[in-house]
Amino acid sequence: MTTSNGDSGTSLAVDLNGVAFPTPVLAASGCFGSGREMAAALDVRRIGGIVTKSVTLGPTKGLPTPRMVEVDAGMLNAIGLQNPGVEEFLAKDGPFIASLGAPVILSIAGKSVQEFAQVAIQTRDMPGVVAIEANISCPNVERRNQVFACHPEQAIEVIATMTRLTTLPVFAKLTADVTNIVEIADACVHAGAHGVTLINTLLGMAIDVESFRPRLAAVTGGLSGPAIRPVAIRCVYQVAQALPGVPIIGVGGISTARDAIEFLLAGAWAVQVGTANFANPDATIQIADGIGQFLAARGLSSPADLTGKVERSERVAEPAYRSG
Ligand SMILES: Cc1cc2nc3c(=O)[nH]c(=O)nc-3n(C[C@H](O)[C@H](O)[C@H](O)COP(=O)(O)O)c2cc1C
Repeated sequence: MTTSNGDSGTSLAVDLNGVAFPTPVLAASGCFGSGREMAAALDVRRIGGIVTKSVTLGPTKGLPTPRMVEVDAGMLNAIGLQNPGVEEFLAKDGPFIASLGAPVILSIAGKSVQEFAQVAIQTRDMPGVVAIEANISCPNVERRNQVFACHPEQAIEVIATMTRLTTLPVFAKLTADVTNIVEIADACVHAGAHGVTLINTLLGMAIDVESFRPRLAAVTGGLSGPAIRPVAIRCVYQVAQALPGVPIIGVGGISTARDAIEFLLAGAWAVQVGTANFANPDATIQIADGIGQFLAARGLSSPADLTGKVERSERVAEPAYRSG
């Protein structure tokens, strides 16, 4: 695997306070399986890393169809965390992940704190897994289906429990559907999170004006793709400013190297690519190559040279202006 750029002395490797990736471009959860299905289409060892589809305790059937629709500048999905459950995941994907040769982040989701805990225990010694991503952007059935990541005290409960149960670093994956994402990120870090992944999909809805019906069977779903990139960039920027030194993985609407570089400049230490994989399974590799060329052309030696380097002429009072 080549992670350096010819003779230029540029290396694409990144180190997120002890969690190392050969390139800063990972495949996002839910958009790459565990890599097993993609292995036929591309050399998965050239990817910076793979975040698995979120794994839950028991098998989850998912939501009725249609559950993916295209919208302007993105897509809406309401898959409903469909996955075979942790036991089948371990049996089927475990051996593949162990032999993959690319770092894997295991994404865990749950309907209760206990479910997160149980999956963390059952996956504790999985070879090939370098970190856990706690997908806390899902409903807590024990608290009237409130989304964990929308309430600091519920986010804390999950993260504190998981960090007690695993020796792996835990990244909290947050939603931007909150008033103050810094408050949630700060709560997660204080509860023991190694870093944060920003952002999950934004809650959206589309209606077919001919039939008058919602286009998704589940009515609402998660918006992803280029449409959400400015929101994700804003979240990364705000959290990076408030919590310097905390590793941030940026995700949301990345399909080119320039998109990824925008995230690095905002404060991301690495990025993930989701929706773009569906149109171009090679996206993560091409984006990493493009970052390498960008660095080499500027005489920079590492993606870390770009992290948080956005320049502002003067400090704008927070909260930032929304319009007008
Ligand atoms: C079809 C689909 C399935 C997804 N499944 C998951 C999931 O299981 N767990 C999770 O944390 N995020 C999931 N996501 C969210 C992505 O990981 C990512 O955060 C989001 O799509 C924004 O990135 P993008 O604009 O590059 O797609 C899913 C996204 C899509 C489009």
